[in-house]
Amino acid sequence: MGFFDFLTEEIAIDLGTANTLIIHNDKVVVDSPSIVARDRISGKIIAVGKEANLMQGKTHENIKTIRPLKDGVIADFDASEQMMSQFIKNVPALKKRLFPPSLRMVICIPSGITEVEMRAVKESAERVNGKEVYLIHEPMAAAIGIGIDIMQPKGNMIVDIGGGTTEIAVLALGGIVCDKSVKIAGDVFTNDIVYYMRTQHNLYVGEATAENIKISIGAATEDLEMPPEEMSVQGRDLLTGKPKQVQISYREIAKALDKSILRIEDAVMETLSQTPPELAADIYNTGIYLAGGGSMLRGLDKRLSQKTDLPVYIAEDPLRAVVRGTGIALKNLDRFKNILIK
Ligand SMILES: Nc1ncnc2c1ncn2[C@@H]1O[C@H](COP(=O)(O)OP(=O)(O)OP(=O)(O)O)[C@@H](O)[C@H]1O
Ligand SMILES: [Mg+2]
Repeated sequence: MGFFDFLTEEIAIDLGTANTLIIHNDKVVVDSPSIVARDRISGKIIAVGKEANLMQGKTHENIKTIRPLKDGVIADFDASEQMMSQFIKNVPALKKRLFPPSLRMVICIPSGITEVEMRAVKESAERVNGKEVYLIHEPMAAAIGIGIDIMQPKGNMIVDIGGGTTEIAVLALGGIVCDKSVKIAGDVFTNDIVYYMRTQHNLYVGEATAENIKISIGAATEDLEMPPEEMSVQGRDLLTGKPKQVQISYREIAKALDKSILRIEDAVMETLSQTPPELAADIYNTGIYLAGGGSMLRGLDKRLSQKTDLPVYIAEDPLRAVVRGTGIALKNLDRFKNILIK
């Protein structure tokens, strides 16, 4: 511990396509949509997180809402940095400080990320005062967050269904043995619903409405034990141009999402087929762990379980499993030094 350590603060960040979470002093202090609103004329960021999210789909020509991450990686560097910087400034304990403290950070990254993308995350972190920056692969963080002992000579399979990507990984001995990342996750589900409403009901709905449908009555299968009730959905009639309302059932959403979920199933099956036999034997006993917001889609666990003939468990608080694991890695840098990327 150095002399100036009292000037250093430690934070763990899950910079996700849909949501950014920050842990400081063991507590989730930021949990916000990864979105910023920019004034087109001045170029200034006028809102971030929840506030910017409320503006989505309702902007006029001088305001643009941007999601700085796409498919799990930074797509708009400037916006992503400003967003990160704003979120860090909003951490209550850091707000009170006279000088911005230097930061020891652990940030998670998708397992399929390239060297260049990795460097971009690191450089962004350094520019927001990260003096000591470590990166950790998301499936690893998810596993730690779920409470799996990843250092054991035992195979575990994690499927993290986020907003931008679904990451499937088999972990053992503190490493990723085989993995697969597909760009089918929550955002694609939402777009499937927009498309379905347009083609089946001639109803034009925005992304926020489609996401609401997904969360309220979304399903991965028509065979649900506790089906949700029908939902009224409002939007614009594509034929008459008038606002209109229709009733939608979860069965329709299950149909709308079927193709995308099939692709996730295929990716899981493919990863299983590449798993070395000793680890496959472990997974036969331990099953598959799901994390990420997309894993909360009704019946998805059941559908994956039927497809793979394995038990499937959803992590407790799946939206926070990755950041929880990132926070644990931050607190135990020594123990996890082999899996952190400096
Ligand atoms: N109850 C729910 N049912 C279905 N989907 C949900 C539910 N709650 C949240 N989601 C979806 O989960 C996704 C966000 O999950 P998460 O925060 O894990 O993603 P992320 O970490 O930001 O993305 P990525 O890991 O791909 O970068 C969104 O698409 C959201 O619509
Ligand atoms: Mg994620």
